[in-house]
Amino acid sequence: MKSFHVGLIGLGNVGYRVWHNLLTHRELLAKKSGKEIEIKKIAVRSVEKALKQGVPPGILTTDWKEIVNDPDLDAIVELIGGIDVPYEIITEALKKGKEVVTANKALLAFHGQQIASLASSYKRRILFEASVAGGIPLLQAIQDGLVANRFLMISGIVNATCNYILTEMTNGRMSYADALKKAKELGYAEADETLDVSGEDSAHKAAILCALSYRFWPKVEEIYTSGIQSVDPFDIQYAGELGYVFKLLAIIKKHQDSKEVEIRVHPTLLRKDHILSSVSGSFNAVIIKGDIVGDQLFYGRGAGGDPTASAVLSDLVELARYPHMEYNPRLFFADEQTEYKVMPIS
Ligand code: HSE
Repeated sequence: MKSFHVGLIGLGNVGYRVWHNLLTHRELLAKKSGKEIEIKKIAVRSVEKALKQGVPPGILTTDWKEIVNDPDLDAIVELIGGIDVPYEIITEALKKGKEVVTANKALLAFHGQQIASLASSYKRRILFEASVAGGIPLLQAIQDGLVANRFLMISGIVNATCNYILTEMTNGRMSYADALKKAKELGYAEADETLDVSGEDSAHKAAILCALSYRFWPKVEEIYTSGIQSVDPFDIQYAGELGYVFKLLAIIKKHQDSKEVEIRVHPTLLRKDHILSSVSGSFNAVIIKGDIVGDQLFYGRGAGGDPTASAVLSDLVELARYPHMEYNPRLFFADEQTEYKVMPIS
């Protein structure tokens, strides 16, 4: 059987679970992809920590350039987070002829257009299923399963940390501060948790959903974004008495016969019997309304090592399965976007 060699950059919560699950699912993934998918090198911050996690010393490096420049690697997986260094890593990797998998929503929200068009010019693919809604195959659904549709609206809960905090506050189990602390301990929150609670992380994901469904990359600064920091426990209580719950929603909607797309992220009052009201804890749920299919609900674990690793591995299987594709058909609009723009919201 042929091999598919991967370099992993970043061995945090998600990176470690990618490594672990690839080993425990090796035979299954080989059967499903037709290739032995192997991680041949891992770039880490701390070799000592990686050794304690059981990673063999021979494959560790502290220099990501060793991975990007290794001619024997077919693909790299970028899982370090942040923007500037990952941008350099991914552009270098594409230039060196590697395929790329990333979970980095912030990077894609700010540089998705340049990266997609670079990938297209180097005839390489970049896949990023893990960047939105953790383990839910949401991007695959938009790009493949629902490909026949025009999208009327995409709306839902795409930040696990905020949903966890709001759920705990609604149930009266924890204060905002305690729930945030717990979300960090459970590995849901970003390294800089203000990205979660300010709504920015949801806005980054909304930008990606907008790009894939409406084929243009919106400017992040143009997305109306309001977080959960100012949601008061009393507001939650009164809302509950009136039959409502607070959820942080991301909404992406194109109005008929308009070239403007409404994109917004903010705490929203939902009736208790709304289908998204029962989505609790770290779960995400997104409703996609297609013009042919109607409403479709996607629900599942939106953050954490294993759900995110599951999405990363699905991208690796896709790359291993179809090795000779010269472009990413899912990003067919990489070089030519629609004329849509973001609808101003004040
Ligand atoms: N911090 C993110 C969240 C991780 O809470 O949803 C998954 O993207």
